[in-house]
Amino acid sequence: MQILSTLSKKLKPRPDDHHLGFGALFTDHMFNMDYSPEKGWHNSRIEPYGPIQMDPATMVLHYGQEVFEGLKAFRTAGGSIQFFRPKDNFKRMNRSCRSLCIPEFDAAQAFEALKQLITIEKEWVPRAPETSLYIRPTIIAMDPFLGVRASHTYRFFIILSPVGAYYAEGFNPVKIWVTRDHVRAVRGGLGEAKTSGNYAASLYAAEEAHRHGYTQVLWLDGVEQRYVEEVGSMNIFFVIDGEVVTPMLSGSILPGITRDTVIALARTWGVQVSERKISIDEVMAAHENGTLEEVFGSGTAAVISPVGEIKYEEKIITIGKGQVGPMAKRFFNAIADIQYGRAEAPANWIEKL
Ligand SMILES: Cc1ncc(COP(=O)(O)O)c(C=O)c1O
Repeated sequence: MQILSTLSKKLKPRPDDHHLGFGALFTDHMFNMDYSPEKGWHNSRIEPYGPIQMDPATMVLHYGQEVFEGLKAFRTAGGSIQFFRPKDNFKRMNRSCRSLCIPEFDAAQAFEALKQLITIEKEWVPRAPETSLYIRPTIIAMDPFLGVRASHTYRFFIILSPVGAYYAEGFNPVKIWVTRDHVRAVRGGLGEAKTSGNYAASLYAAEEAHRHGYTQVLWLDGVEQRYVEEVGSMNIFFVIDGEVVTPMLSGSILPGITRDTVIALARTWGVQVSERKISIDEVMAAHENGTLEEVFGSGTAAVISPVGEIKYEEKIITIGKGQVGPMAKRFFNAIADIQYGRAEAPANWIEKL
């Protein structure tokens, strides 16, 4: 694939690696490519980071036909740069494309384009502990047209953001709020796709949770509002009586790459792990009888996020005395060690720049 590069004439001042925050700073360049029915995906190019000019009628603005991904590049102690399971992200992005009637792209070429972009931006991959370069590939519907149908034209772009820890709390337990008034996604809908509508659907309950002092929403299934699905923008795990339990992929849950990593590591460690339906009543009962040992979320942004408190209707339960549990710590350390090149990874998890 031929990628044309136009470099920025004016580079931004580089931020202090120790105060990056999350998602507010962007590098100097971005990758772009276009789709038309006549040419397919074409016009691959790296350009200065900047606004995308669009007609006010552009379909993505009205009908939300969009997919995106989130993955990271890490700097190892030796200074090299590596990616964690990037091919799984591009594979998932193509699955999301199918759900949203967006034409699929060549995943291997997209990864090549990402590597070329990061080669240009390599000084933006931060060096401070627990920092990384967050990567956001996105596809948007570009037809200027009012009327609900799939667009004929699209833009694929990749932007990069140097990031620190996702939560202001750092690796400390977060408080989560169970909602029965709102649902994020339903079976047969778009829950298993990474698309903007799912996040729009999550905002109202998230605002309500924040108003009550909670960091994230624990989503129940959209049909019976009984079974646990996800927490905020993470998958969720429970440790009950020594067994690691996570909701099975039901069609409305995002198949997280960190979730898959946790399950794979647990199996190699000989820890009992099951993917099954788990109701909120079972979680509350396990707490009641003293077998709910740990709860934690998993996702690219925070890796592992321990949960210290759950509010469900009138009940508030504290998990592990509000402290980080040993299993959450073990998964966090193991995954971080692999990501930063401190530990050997199973085959195909690490790709070097
Ligand atoms: C809704 C939702 N669930 C789960 C996850 C976790 O997925 P991954 O581990 O691939 O980052 C994400 C994204 O990070 C998400 O947005």
